Amino acid sequence: MSGDTSAVCLPDRYTRNVVETRDPHAELVADFRAGMLEAPRSLPPKYFYDDRGSQLFDAICDTPEYYPTRLERELLEANVEAIARRAGAATLVELGSGTSRKTETLLAAMLRAHAAVHYVANDVCEEVLDESAQRLLERFPRLTVDALCGDYTAALAALAAVDREPATPHLYAFLGSSLGNFEDAEAIAVLRAIRSAMHAQDRLLLGLDRVKPVAALERAYNDAAGVTAAFNLNLLAVLNRELGANFDPAQFEHRAPFVSEGSRIEMHLVARAPQVVEVSEPAVTLEIGAGEVIRTEISRKFDDAAIDLLLGGAGLRREQEWSAGESWYSLLLLRPDTD
Ligand code: AVJ
Repeated sequence: MSGDTSAVCLPDRYTRNVVETRDPHAELVADFRAGMLEAPRSLPPKYFYDDRGSQLFDAICDTPEYYPTRLERELLEANVEAIARRAGAATLVELGSGTSRKTETLLAAMLRAHAAVHYVANDVCEEVLDESAQRLLERFPRLTVDALCGDYTAALAALAAVDREPATPHLYAFLGSSLGNFEDAEAIAVLRAIRSAMHAQDRLLLGLDRVKPVAALERAYNDAAGVTAAFNLNLLAVLNRELGANFDPAQFEHRAPFVSEGSRIEMHLVARAPQVVEVSEPAVTLEIGAGEVIRTEISRKFDDAAIDLLLGGAGLRREQEWSAGESWYSLLLLRPDTD
């Protein structure tokens, strides 16, 4: 699989490209080895998003407590004409596109200004890419879609191969504060990879969650209906299926505290009792103590200084910024920093 881009054609105007640069199974095995063999245990959050995990994330976005999706949608709807005008793009490249529900607003505005629009959507979940493309193509007859199924790095590496109008302005989108999943060094690496794909006339629309009162943050990640808990616990089902493990989800509790050093929500799975877990690949036995934590995600909440550090490190600068709900959430339109 290494390095190849295989294309599957589904409906007209839609191409799905599998762009994993590494064998995804081997990568999970390696990440499991690196993070899970001893305390403090952790896994990267990208493994949440199997078909069920993607559906659960979508359901999180509809909970009354999870404000980021709603605020970001409001910001997009209120400012979409300005964004589209400033970007002047007929190509939209989105990282971590998920269901592309918010993106519809953006595509509609781009289609008002251009005869045809090309949408390059990237996600780790292939089912979600197929379903979203189908919906978008039905709504927008002048749209074409290329799906890049794989992680951000693989998608950016494959971009040139699907680009139809490389000489025209492109709008890149990285929404939902997904950048918040990464520590500084990794976040800068992701932004830099986007920056290196960009030409001088291209723009990046970045959605970032902001620092706010702790109670509101913790509510958003501990919703009353338990959807976030189900999303977090679904990771154990992924490990059971993909690695032949026997985690018992009933033996773990969802917790999502705000950790002020680092200004982040952390998602934890906490062992309710001492337990032994057998895993086939890698062939290991885990002895997990009562109260022991598996950290499954960090979700950073940014202040201006943290944002400036990332943008500076990546060679990007602010062109415009829109904020909602007393600066609870921000959309930034960024351009490559040329000097
Ligand atoms: C998709 C990574 C932005 O961090 O808020 C939602 C994922 N985790 N509830 C976030 C998530 C728990 C979400 N991101």
